[in-house]
Amino acid sequence: MKTILVTGGCGFIGSSFVKLLSAQRRYRVVNLDKLTYAGNLENTADLAGKDNRFVQGDICDRALVERIFKDEKPWAIVNFAAESHVDRSILDAAPFLRTNIGGVQTLLEAIRSCPVERFLHISTDEVYGDKEGQASSSEGSPLLPSSPYAATKAAADLLCFSYRRTYGLPVIVTRSSNNYGPYQFPEKLIPLLIRNGLNDLELPIYGDGKQIRDWLYVEDNCRAILSVLEKGQIGCIYNIGTGEERTNLDVAEAICVTIAERKKLNAKTIAERIRYVADRPGHDRRYAIDTSKVRAEVGWKPDVDFAAGIKKTVDWYLDHLDWISRVTSGEYRNYYESVYAHAWGKGQSAGRIS
Ligand code: NAD
Ligand code: TYD
Repeated sequence: MKTILVTGGCGFIGSSFVKLLSAQRRYRVVNLDKLTYAGNLENTADLAGKDNRFVQGDICDRALVERIFKDEKPWAIVNFAAESHVDRSILDAAPFLRTNIGGVQTLLEAIRSCPVERFLHISTDEVYGDKEGQASSSEGSPLLPSSPYAATKAAADLLCFSYRRTYGLPVIVTRSSNNYGPYQFPEKLIPLLIRNGLNDLELPIYGDGKQIRDWLYVEDNCRAILSVLEKGQIGCIYNIGTGEERTNLDVAEAICVTIAERKKLNAKTIAERIRYVADRPGHDRRYAIDTSKVRAEVGWKPDVDFAAGIKKTVDWYLDHLDWISRVTSGEYRNYYESVYAHAWGKGQSAGRIS
């Protein structure tokens, strides 16, 4: 059985991917995760006792990474490990540069000394920047990241392809749109609104709430990633998304309606708790990607539409209230204060590159 080294497999998307691999029983999984605030062993607890292996560690730790490569001889590496939240990158970009760029370079260097057949790096549509009033981005579109987070992801993508060209490394990159679903840390829009909606808290909306994102159910993304890993072409980039563009206010409304249905409440009463708060500095108005390549080349398409996905997600959080309390105790409070109580300090957007 081939071994796949998954990094960041205790985070939101990584844990869903590890579960998909485990269910398929075609691969053995080694999961390397540092267990930052966003990583939680509980997210993969149902896999304990299987033939998989968990290693707590840092992708920036070259000696550890090389030891794992030598011991496990993975067929492929799928790199989810990252600092993943735009708002945190605005508060402090340093950990993003370290993990999202330095960590990727460490993995690439380790592959040079212990070759693997595929290195699939998980990137984001945010590398293309703001698409307001513009055509959707294809894989060859220019990189114009707006946030420190997106800039580190774009840098890592470029680093991957430089190692492809310079050293012939077997690199593939996926760039997906905004994911949502079970186990997402309640700092991102959808789980944050669900948590606050369920707890009689205010529902913070940045700016005018008309910013648009393309929403992708996490399990659909993981199926796409596996298909790209198995059938995608080395040296290529694949955009992954649904075309289900929604404004943030549309998303908030869908969440209010679903919570109201489930709790037998009035949706309007929940929606009255929507609060327009100070906008995120540098906030991109719209992300939009052309996903025809992944659909044509690997035969993927999403299964879960937005309406069904939101219902499944709200139901999951309702069934996991204890998980929400556990992950939001401690450090989360400080983070929440920094963004919502202090409204980003003094920082204001300096405008966009045209
Ligand atoms: P997440 O924040 O939920 O999880 C990140 C995981 O990486 C955590 O388990 C964390 O402990 C681990 N990690 C962080 N730094 C590490 C390090 N130095 N060494 C080892 N492990 C480390 O993130 P996510 O939302 O699951 O995103 C996974 C990947 O997908 C990221 O690369 C992100 O950029 C990308 N992505 C996310 C989205 C989205 O909507 N969430 C969309 C597109 C792309
Ligand atoms: P987020 O989930 O942080 O993902 P990303 O910034 O990677 O797209 O945010 C999604 C959208 O929701 C984005 O336009 C910012 C907005 N947003 C709010 O309006 N309020 C919030 O409290 C959060 C976290 C996000």
